[in-house]
Amino acid sequence: MRLLVTGGCGFIGSAFVRLALGHGAEVVNLDKLTYAGNPANVADVADDEAYTFVHADIADAAAVAGAIAGCDAVVNFAAESHVDRSILDPADFISTDVVGTAVLLDAARTAGVRRFVQVSTDEVYGSIPTGAFRETDPISPSSPYSASKAGGDLQVLAWHRTFGLDAVITRGSNTFGPRQYPEKLIPLFVTNALDGQQLPVYGDGMQIRDWIYVDDHCSGIWTALEKGEAGEVYNVGGGNEEPNMEITRRVLELTGRDGSLIRHVADRPGHDRRYALDTAKLRGLGWEPAHSFEDALAATVAWYADRRDWWEPIKSGDYRRYYEEQYGGR
Ligand code: NAD
Ligand code: TYD
Repeated sequence: MRLLVTGGCGFIGSAFVRLALGHGAEVVNLDKLTYAGNPANVADVADDEAYTFVHADIADAAAVAGAIAGCDAVVNFAAESHVDRSILDPADFISTDVVGTAVLLDAARTAGVRRFVQVSTDEVYGSIPTGAFRETDPISPSSPYSASKAGGDLQVLAWHRTFGLDAVITRGSNTFGPRQYPEKLIPLFVTNALDGQQLPVYGDGMQIRDWIYVDDHCSGIWTALEKGEAGEVYNVGGGNEEPNMEITRRVLELTGRDGSLIRHVADRPGHDRRYALDTAKLRGLGWEPAHSFEDALAATVAWYADRRDWWEPIKSGDYRRYYEEQYGGR
């Protein structure tokens, strides 16, 4: 099987590229290399004969048409993915997550690929006070990020219904693991704690997320690719619901720091209080997560402690300017 993987230089996409190569697939990785795209994330497979890299934007129809030729399936990870950045400037989110997805869908239809997998997020459902979202629940996104992902999902479903494109959508929960850009909660707090810097907790820190280890998220996407039914949505959740303060406590413990690093800052506008997913549908296809939250978090912290060469160059330059802008307005 030859796969077009988009966004394969990002956090989850790079783990999926490794998983796909491990399953014997050929992989064409198309990535724009935005601030979040890092060739170092795929350096270990760069010389693999089954791996090809294409530096391009998913919204560039000509480039996508070239890369998709001969591919059996597309797995679309490419996205602007950070809620706080979408609040500062939503434009790129709409260009990539909505328009880019539509360009990719059109290329897939023209090329006659056998399957299109859209990697989406639990955030499209919005917040849920109790219980867990099922795939049939309506979408109600809160942020420009989740609204743009929801827009992408709707394009995928439309291409299935209108043009008969064989497409499935996965909606993953908050993912953590090695190689996650240090703007998201866990890698930001781990790298700050390792450096003895403050951990900015938004609001009361009692917002709940359902955490999943990156390799479990990828195996869920692989299951949907292989066994999912066309036109269907599959939730991919780890079942590890934790308030942000509990994540903060664990990070401090694992890095040998204390609560004096905690800094409560102004809450994120439109902040979703709780996410939770019912994963019975994907489990019905034989998938289940293989990693315990506790062990995977400890392994993740150990990876960041060991790989300063990976994150120290990132936490300078443009990254610093982003944080000045981020906290300037709060
Ligand atoms: P990331 O920000 O780490 O990586 C995104 C990748 O996409 C980068 O390599 C970037 O260069 C590339 N990219 C961005 N715009 C592009 C464009 N226009 N054309 C081509 N490439 C482009 O993101 P991630 O955390 O790995 O997330 C991957 C996908 O999974 C996203 O679609 C995201 O919405 C979804 N998701 C993420 C999480 C999470 O917790 N991180 C949870 C559920 C779903
Ligand atoms: P994040 O990793 O940005 O993922 P998402 O917003 O997509 O769920 O944030 C996870 C949670 O952590 C969310 O409730 C916001 C909170 N958070 C903080 O309290 N401080 C931070 O510096 C960041 C980045 C997030």
